[in-house]
Amino acid sequence: MYSLARSLLFRLDAETAHGVALKGLDLAGRLGLAEQLGGGRVEDPVELMGLRFPNRVGLAAGLDKNADHLDVLGALGFGFVEVGTVTPRPQDGNPRPRLFRLPEAGALINRMGFNNAGVDHLIARVRASRYDGVIGINIGKNLATPVERAVDDYLTCLRKVHDLAHYITVNLSSPNTPGLRNLQFGEHLDGLLGALRGEGNRLDRQTGRRVPLAVKIAPDMSAEEVGLVARALEANAIDAVIATNTTVAREAVAGLSHADEQGGLSGRPVFEPSNTIILELRRWLPGMPIIGVGGIDSGEAALAKRAAGADLVQLYSGFIYRGPKLVGECARALKARFAGQ
Ligand SMILES: Cc1cc2nc3c(=O)[nH]c(=O)nc-3n(C[C@H](O)[C@H](O)[C@H](O)COP(=O)(O)O)c2cc1C
Repeated sequence: MYSLARSLLFRLDAETAHGVALKGLDLAGRLGLAEQLGGGRVEDPVELMGLRFPNRVGLAAGLDKNADHLDVLGALGFGFVEVGTVTPRPQDGNPRPRLFRLPEAGALINRMGFNNAGVDHLIARVRASRYDGVIGINIGKNLATPVERAVDDYLTCLRKVHDLAHYITVNLSSPNTPGLRNLQFGEHLDGLLGALRGEGNRLDRQTGRRVPLAVKIAPDMSAEEVGLVARALEANAIDAVIATNTTVAREAVAGLSHADEQGGLSGRPVFEPSNTIILELRRWLPGMPIIGVGGIDSGEAALAKRAAGADLVQLYSGFIYRGPKLVGECARALKARFAGQ
């Protein structure tokens, strides 16, 4: 069924198709069809970061930036849903077109630029939702905030979402906000993580509820840089790492139409680069939960991500190309191979 819907959707501009597909999913949700579309809910519970995940397959950040579709996305059978990236104030993002399909490569390029309705809107939407599963809230900084003041934006979002999030992701790895990725390195990283950890601890104590902090990193790093990031995550008692965001590399898609568009490349071409980062992280951080994301488009690819060292996985581009049934396919494959481990 999805292949028919897809052939119609893929005639539209990518971002328009995205909106239409989400509206269609909302309708399917209201008709009670979501669970079926997701290929059947899979119970494969696992405890990580002090949270109980009903299965290991999550939705990656960016698909539901404003938490406008939480009910239906949750009903598809994801073990967790990450909403955002959200910024303190609403912002438009980059001018359109800013999302491109590279179907020959099972890939997308996006330069959305954190288009979102702001953290207050997201909070209202999460509160209004009936979804009662695990929610990650992914936070970022406004374009207009200078990188030197980025910490203020992250702290604003952290304080606002702490009450509602099961975990909070600090997104340092979008290629579409100038300077953001520099926050992954050196004293920037230690300063930022130290401030967020301190405020997180204070809020945890104040509310009596511990909300884990995850950091999302880019695939465009050398082994040495991964080692430095790993040390900073450990030193600042970060609870989990999400690897990875999109890549700025283009070798894998050279010559394809849209390959030269600016932005982050996702989907199949980022599968191996993100696995390499996960393997390296696992070497440095044997005990830290890793959420593996990048290029998962089948149950087999989810298994490979887990074999590289990921405890949980997330989907984005594969979900666009393969449709909701990919959720059940990945969750079933992981359950069959790794149940109880
Ligand atoms: C259109 C689009 C928008 C995205 N927006 C965000 C975002 O706002 N925040 C974020 O952390 N990652 C964002 N991502 C990155 C994904 O969450 C994911 O890390 C990346 O696409 C790799 O996974 P995939 O190959 O399964 O797509 C976005 C990806 C795409 C394709």
